[in-house]
Parts: sequence; C-alpha cells; structure tokens
Amino acid sequence: MRSSFLLLLTFLLGVTDIQAGSDFRVCAFNTQHFGESKSQKSDVMQTLVKIITRCDVCLLQEVRDSKGKALKLLLEHLKRYDTKHEYKAVASERLGRSETYQEQYVFVYRTDTVTVADQYQYPDDKPGDIDAFSREPFVVRFRAPKTAIKEFVLIPQHTTPANTTKELDALYDVLQHVKKMWKTENVMLLGDFNAGCGYLAKKNRKRVRLITDQNLFWLIQENTDTTVRSSTSCSYDRIVVNGETFHRAILPSSAKPFNFQVEYRLTEEQVTALLVSDHYPVEVLLKVVDSRGLDGGTSITSGNQFIALFVLSHVAFQILTR
Ligand SMILES: *[C@@H]1O[C@H](CO)[C@@H](O)[C@H](O)[C@H]1NC(C)=O
Repeated sequence: MRSSFLLLLTFLLGVTDIQAGSDFRVCAFNTQHFGESKSQKSDVMQTLVKIITRCDVCLLQEVRDSKGKALKLLLEHLKRYDTKHEYKAVASERLGRSETYQEQYVFVYRTDTVTVADQYQYPDDKPGDIDAFSREPFVVRFRAPKTAIKEFVLIPQHTTPANTTKELDALYDVLQHVKKMWKTENVMLLGDFNAGCGYLAKKNRKRVRLITDQNLFWLIQENTDTTVRSSTSCSYDRIVVNGETFHRAILPSSAKPFNFQVEYRLTEEQVTALLVSDHYPVEVLLKVVDSRGLDGGTSITSGNQFIALFVLSHVAFQILTR
C-alpha cells in the first residue's frame, strides 16, 4: 500500500511539475496596421491587451504610429489591465522603402522577467548585400534569468510578400552577423515571414539558407494556419531557433498560433477578430528554471499549488488505505 501511495505521490508531483510556472512565453504578432485608428477602438485595444499580456516578450509588427501616440496608449492600457506585471517597449525606427509607407518593429516585454541587454538595427545597405529588406531587422538581445537559456537574441522580420524568398535567404546573413557580433548561438528568428501559400514556392526553398541549414529549427509547421480569415489557410508567421542549445531550452511542441478568435469568442461575421488583425500571433514557451536554480524546466511556484497537491495526495492516501 505504501509503495503505491508513493508512486501516486510521485505521479502527482510530476503532473504539478508540468503545469506549474512552466511558462515563459515569446510571441510574435502582425497587428495589421496598428496605429492611431486602432488605438481609439476600445474593444480592439481590449483584445490586443489580452493577447500581449499573455507574453513575457511580444514582438509587434506593422506598427504604423507616426506620432507615437498609439504605442503610448497601448502601454497605458497594458498597465491598467495587468497590475501584476510591468511592461516596457523597445521600438525600431520607422522602416520602409517609401516615405509614405513605413512600419516599426516593437518588442513589448515584462520588466520583472526580462531586461534588454543590447539592441542593433541591421543597416539598410550592407556591402555585398545591397538593400535586401524592406524592413531591416531590429535585433534585440534579452536577458531572462528565469529561463533555462538565460539570455537570447530575437531577430524580427516582416517580409514583403513579393520578395519573401530573397528576404528569408538574406535573413541568414543577418543571423551569421549577429552570432559573430555578440558571440552567441542563442538566436531566434520570428515574425510574419509570409512563408506560406503563394509567396514561398516549393521549388525555391532549396535556395533559402534559412530553410536548408540543418542547425535551424522551424517550430511552426508548414500546414499551420496563422491567418484569421476562414477563407485562407497559410503558415505566414513563423518561429525559427538556431542551434541545439536553444532548441533544447524550448518546451517541446509549445510553438503554435494563438487563435484569439476562438479563445475570446470573437466572430468573423461581426468582423470583431478582423478588426484586431488578419493574423494570429504565434508563440513558443521557453523552459524555466525553479528557484533552486535547477534546470527542471518547471517547478512548484505557489503555495496554492502546494496545498492542492497536499489535499490531492491526502485523498489518494485515504482511497489507497481504505
Ligand atoms: C524587392 O526587392 C528589390 C531589391 O532587391 C526592390 O527594388 C523592390 O522594391 C522589392 N519589392 C518590393 C515590393 O518591395
């Protein structure tokens, strides 16, 4: 009897271990023209804030906020909505080939779990690599002590659909440059790569080093739908990690689109979801270390969970010894 009780306790501990404090979430969201107009719509902002506060770090793309008002408003909303955490943002310059159409990359992050260690704007014209991108990556190095990886670099990219193949291949040069510059292998590339449907032809993929390099792990699979419209099913938004070490620091099978339409019961008919964006965010969980500094991936973090576990094992004990 006692041995089965111990077995059950071990099992319960295991279950709790998986569920407790296991999340450090990195997200990438194409907000489809986030600017003043969207920031004035309270239900759109409410949904955006709910989405962003799920993440420890959230990359926003297609931020079109020429006066800087929308981002400021977003941060105020975040503060009001989530009082348990504090959020900051680090934003790129406005990027784009034409004066009239520009976008910013913005990383919103929780200040209690993440700090910005460094940032780097990939230049417009690099010798031998003349203006490959419409929106050159705004690369940020983050420190996140509670994760197993501790420190990592995020390379964002929102490709131009017509140039997807070329831009994805050029992203490989950015990766090599960043690895050398900061002497790290722990790099993640993420964003709306337009890496699906008609924009990335199958026959071109063997020319894309970001795809062919065996050291890169594409976490969002090709058949995944990252688009809101039911009439489309394309894996535009992707997350790619460089190297075994970083790959091992990812919670297996955690990379996925976040279907906020279903999660928040928004309907396409009322276009509520589409008012927010035509993309789903994509996200991935990094393993966390517990307070004793063990790389367990997870730990019992709250007293409540401990009490729940205690009650559960007590009940189990009663049943087993009856
Ligand atoms: C595609 O890339 C070329 C440069 O390589 C650029 O001249 C062109 O404007 C790009 N197309 C779009 C739609 O941005």
